[in-house]
Amino acid sequence: AKLAQDWGYDEVNINCGCPSERVQKGSFGACLMSEPALVADCIKAMRDAVDIPVTVKHRIGIDKIENYDFVRDFVGTVSEAGTNVFIVHTRNAWLKGLSPKENREIPPLKREFAYQLKKDFPELIFVINGVIQDLGQAEEQLKFVDGVMVGRAAYNTPWLLSDVDDRIYGDSHEPITREKVIEVMTEYLKTVGSDQRAVRAVCRHMHGLLTGLAGAKAWRRTLSDSAAIEHEGSNILNYAYAKAGWSDIERYWDADDDNFG
Ligand SMILES: Cc1cc2nc3c(=O)[nH]c(=O)nc-3n(C[C@H](O)[C@H](O)[C@H](O)COP(=O)(O)O)c2cc1C
Repeated sequence: AKLAQDWGYDEVNINCGCPSERVQKGSFGACLMSEPALVADCIKAMRDAVDIPVTVKHRIGIDKIENYDFVRDFVGTVSEAGTNVFIVHTRNAWLKGLSPKENREIPPLKREFAYQLKKDFPELIFVINGVIQDLGQAEEQLKFVDGVMVGRAAYNTPWLLSDVDDRIYGDSHEPITREKVIEVMTEYLKTVGSDQRAVRAVCRHMHGLLTGLAGAKAWRRTLSDSAAIEHEGSNILNYAYAKAGWSDIERYWDADDDNFG
């Protein structure tokens, strides 16, 4: 928690949701849900160590425990340690027999458990998580809980968050464009310099920018091409955008082709 604070993070979160075997061997993640008193102790120690908020991320049960009382008692015990924010991935974690990926897909979603938690602990803040796919679905959930966490959809289709400030927070400003994102990230890439591994890492996490648009495949392919990355350096995003058929230069040439070709 101290390290997180020193690195400048706004919040530190204890993981009571990850089902992976490696994490279980380290005695953290979802297996902590069976030890709420221990989690409460951890929260107290973390709160003593830092000033930033300490929050909890958890599931609604582990293995075959299907009754609501389990998660209600977990939240009740842990909240006594002084934390008030609970991020609930509203499905069980099956600690044996499923991979982490399957554990994000197979145990059934039960959002009503999060709604019930909010009713039982109205003074606590509940953030719902699990297969929220767009802002419309997020708005629907906000009728029942205090917040929404979007995981995979935000990563795979980051553009779905482009009007979040306006729609959810009422903070309207000029709409952002993909070109602006590319411009800002290009400036960031310049600070990364010639460290190819870092440039490749930035490129990997830009794959989703064109999801759903024509040229998305060429964009991803170019951003996975080590030779292109090495050759283009910090210009790689502009280059990939052109390869995807989106840059102004590319469109100019396309128009020319139409006129004269
Ligand atoms: C690649 C990957 C890594 C994740 N790592 C963490 C993690 O370190 N801590 C955590 O609490 N959840 C982690 N999660 C789970 C997500 O926070 C989230 O609970 C899960 O993806 C369900 O939300 P979604 O359906 O919106 O994706 C991870 C998910 C993915 C796909």
